[in-house]
Amino acid sequence: MVQVAAGYRELSSIAAALVCARVRVKQDLVLGLPAGRTPLGLYSQLVNLYRAGLVDFSGVTTFNLDEYYPVPPQDPRSFYAFTRRHFLDHVNVPANRAHAPAATHPHPAEACAAYELEIVRAGGLDLVILGIGQNGHIGFNEPGTAFDSRTRLVELAEHTVRVNFGRAAAHAPRAALSMGIATIMEAAEVLLLASGRDKAPIVGRSLCGPVTPEVPASILQRHPLLTAVVDREAAAAMGNR
Ligand code: GLP
Repeated sequence: MVQVAAGYRELSSIAAALVCARVRVKQDLVLGLPAGRTPLGLYSQLVNLYRAGLVDFSGVTTFNLDEYYPVPPQDPRSFYAFTRRHFLDHVNVPANRAHAPAATHPHPAEACAAYELEIVRAGGLDLVILGIGQNGHIGFNEPGTAFDSRTRLVELAEHTVRVNFGRAAAHAPRAALSMGIATIMEAAEVLLLASGRDKAPIVGRSLCGPVTPEVPASILQRHPLLTAVVDREAAAAMGNR
């Protein structure tokens, strides 16, 4: 299902309402969390709803989608620090149930296998929230990623490093640990968020174009329970296919 919001605020409200509804139905919800600018409005609305006593995260478990490698959690550039700063530090998800890939582990393959196991032990992902990269990446699954991929060490596309770090790109991490496409697709439900005209071409290709590894997000068309919430600007190329 695609929901077109008038703007970013409405997009964030629709997303927050969906997340709260799922937490109310299943108190021990297992949630996949993205970093990036797009979910900031959602996180801030969830914090407000929590502060107003309208949602309780005490039974919730979270798994961050991805993490730069090798970047320690205390590094302000880490996605762990990001999700803490914007969401987890302000709500009552128990600290021992807020997971992130171990991006300083000397053996990334082991860290990734352990992460997959933790997800299974938690009962599997109930709801994964996703942003989308301008090249169609979800998590850090860059174009060309196999649809059967699982959590693993990935090399970042040059374009992604430039978009995410701008002028600091020269000193930015070039790799990450990311949930795979299969890990994401096994979630019971997916909530995809996209905002702004920069995302319009890739939203059109992902939701209305052919399903191909060249556009990683296109696989979401095959997810049995996908809600895509896009604002009008991001939806602009959806009719042109
Ligand atoms: C990052 C993350 C993704 C995120 C994407 C879009 O590289 N790995 O999980 O969805 O970029 O970011 P933004 O929401 O800032 O456009």
